[in-house]
Amino acid sequence: MQILDGKKTSLTIQEELTKKVKLLTSKGKKPPHLAAILVGDNGASRTYVNAKVKACQRIGFQSSLIELDNNVSEKVLLDEVRKLNTNSSVDGFIVQLPLPSHINENKVILSIDPNKDVDGFHPENIGKMTLGMPSFLPATPNGIMELLKRYDIPTEGKQTVVLGRSNIVGTPISILMSRKNYPGNSTVTLAHSRTGNLKQVCLNADILIVAIGIPQFITSEMIKPGAVVIDVGIHREEDSSKKNGFKLLGDVDFANASEKCSFITPVPGGVGPMTIASLLMNTYIANNGKY
Ligand code: GUN
Repeated sequence: MQILDGKKTSLTIQEELTKKVKLLTSKGKKPPHLAAILVGDNGASRTYVNAKVKACQRIGFQSSLIELDNNVSEKVLLDEVRKLNTNSSVDGFIVQLPLPSHINENKVILSIDPNKDVDGFHPENIGKMTLGMPSFLPATPNGIMELLKRYDIPTEGKQTVVLGRSNIVGTPISILMSRKNYPGNSTVTLAHSRTGNLKQVCLNADILIVAIGIPQFITSEMIKPGAVVIDVGIHREEDSSKKNGFKLLGDVDFANASEKCSFITPVPGGVGPMTIASLLMNTYIANNGKY
């Protein structure tokens, strides 16, 4: 079994981007600028946004963080989005999800300028992605694609099973893995909470992408020997032996599953860092037109 090391791969991409930014600024151009809107006090969202801002600083991108109160009105949030849409110094921005329940998430996503939508969440970008047209690809699915590419994982003609149909991960990765491209060209099954005989469906997977949101849901008896397993889950579990009081678990029971598969992403250090790398690549593209 081999680890698909997202942390190492993300750092390699960040080194590439650092060089690209130096080249841009040496020609008198401005560095890419990513802005993030964080609403409320969701601890996990704050951790993710801080990691994104820190990564920008590390590679020489400009970054801005707009923090809004949990009870901010939808109108004020939409005004902030419009300001970023028209601020020519900002190349791309994200609104960290989930948003508080009094705010209509779809309305917010629709208000983002698709040309600055580096999360790839706007229907224009999702539509272009589906049709195979150039677009911003959603960060987590694109991070997974980049990881498969950089480890030369064969995907053509393979059976890919995606577990989970969220707008952010499951649905877009199912589209990307079936596109006529590498990585892709695989036969995709999009399984979810209502799928019958889930164990049998999973056992058919050469590539199993798990984004079901249940800690350690996948165990070795659901894995085909030699499969490639991608774990998108991230959950905190109390652990008094840890300095910070918790440990992180994925949707896959790593110790048990790793006996069966050929490649697996760890949690932490797998898909998470690749999501950040992918967002940074999109922001570079928003600034410069191509990677
Ligand atoms: N919440 C969970 N994942 C993401 C992501 O990739 N982008 C944003 N904006 N919110 C998220």
